[in-house]
Amino acid sequence: MTAVCALLLSTLSGCFLYPSSPADGASLFRRERCIDCHGPSGLGTGNGPTLDGLASRWTADALADYIADPEAYLANDARLSALADQYDGRMIPFGYLSEGERHALASFVLSIAK
Ligand code: HEC
Repeated sequence: MTAVCALLLSTLSGCFLYPSSPADGASLFRRERCIDCHGPSGLGTGNGPTLDGLASRWTADALADYIADPEAYLANDARLSALADQYDGRMIPFGYLSEGERHALASFVLSIAK
């Protein structure tokens, strides 16, 4: 009984905190025009890098933060600022999205593979 309740509670609190899934993230990725720079499959264009393999260097929480304020990360991350220098434009800040939406985007981009 306790185990069932614990499972139910953790599932419910997960829903409450981040009511999102990679599928929601995939539609946000189109709606917010991430595809203009990262391509329809997230594998990059001339305006933005490929997003495969992100899981080796990002957690979902850090990515959700970065999506809100990329400039703040560029200042402290030599790899990211070198990456940004390869493109004419910069990653756009999406701080107007809710935390749940940014988490959905984060879980989607973490699932992108070549
Ligand atoms: C105007 C073009 C543009 C748009 C639109 C854009 N990005 Fe980016 N993105 C970039 C560029 C350029 C970089 C390289 C680093 C930087 O500029 O911060 C980048 C970097 C990233 C990274 C880090 C990649 C790494 O190797 O660590 C992620 C994750 C990312 N973008 C996700 C998104 C998501 C999600 C959206 C939509 C909500 C989005 N981007 C919209 C241009 C864009």
